[in-house]
Amino acid sequence: MTVTRAQVAALPKAELHLHIEGTLEPELALELSARNGVPLRHADAAALRRAYAFTSLSSFLDLYYECMAVLRTARDFADLAGAYLAKARADGVTRTEIFFDPQVHMARGVPLSAVIDGLSAAAGRSAAAGGPRAELIACFLRDRGPDDAMRTLESLAGHAGRLLGVGLDSAEVGYPPAGFAGVFDAARGLGLHTVAHAGEEGPPEYVWQALDLLGVERVDHGIRSVEDPALLRRLAADGTPLTVCPLSNVRLRCVDVMANHPLPRLLDAGVLVTVNSDDPAYFGGYVADNYLALAAELDLGLTDLAALAGNSITASLTGS
Ligand code: ADE
Ligand code: ZN
Repeated sequence: MTVTRAQVAALPKAELHLHIEGTLEPELALELSARNGVPLRHADAAALRRAYAFTSLSSFLDLYYECMAVLRTARDFADLAGAYLAKARADGVTRTEIFFDPQVHMARGVPLSAVIDGLSAAAGRSAAAGGPRAELIACFLRDRGPDDAMRTLESLAGHAGRLLGVGLDSAEVGYPPAGFAGVFDAARGLGLHTVAHAGEEGPPEYVWQALDLLGVERVDHGIRSVEDPALLRRLAADGTPLTVCPLSNVRLRCVDVMANHPLPRLLDAGVLVTVNSDDPAYFGGYVADNYLALAAELDLGLTDLAALAGNSITASLTGS
């Protein structure tokens, strides 16, 4: 039986891997470009969408960082997050743990307080309107190195009460987690949760490092864990969740076609897998679209999808 969008939306779920800057739809990017007088290379929404033909993570990140230039004020961040939260609510998301990239914004001269004030305002409005409940995870850009991350953590410290945790993202290969151990220890000292992208394009060794050296509570992507049976046993034994993003993996060519996605093998190995959208404006769909793609192309039924949605609640850092 075909699974419908309404059935997927009716499953209460958490979204745990979502970059707020990756929810910037072309129409809003152009509106903010005009509002703030920040020109974009692509003149209209169709031209921007045509540029979304990615060949790798880094080919995506180039455009993603470029488009972020239009985000300047707290109001911009509130508009961005408000638009995402409305879509998440329609998809049955009851809670979401939202990533943002403070280093990119601070390097452009946008005060950290503008970013966090804007995102927090949208989160407050969403909670007051019945959800989803939204919390914030500040990600360090691994390709800017541990010293820059530590300086960023010092800036974040004054806002720690408004943050759920810290993460690690951006270009992966060549930037193993190991160097960030001190930063992650310091973040825990501020009472913050810790997660990290690992095993998206990078090897299983990076997932081991995220677990053993960074001590993360969750691994973002982690799909290359499927290549290492001992790692799968470790993830399953510890109940460490993976935040898997199927449409992203295919768009960035980490997986060739959805039919070959490792998600079923991760589930068979007993890993706590969750389904998420990563950068939905760029990858062809929000969280419900990811569930529907699994149903259509990996033959998962409603019971399987309900189990994945249940996993996402279990894997939430704020508890089930
Ligand atoms: N930043 C935004 N999306 C990302 C991804 N899929 N991997 C690493 N860094 C990211
Ligand atoms: Zn991501």
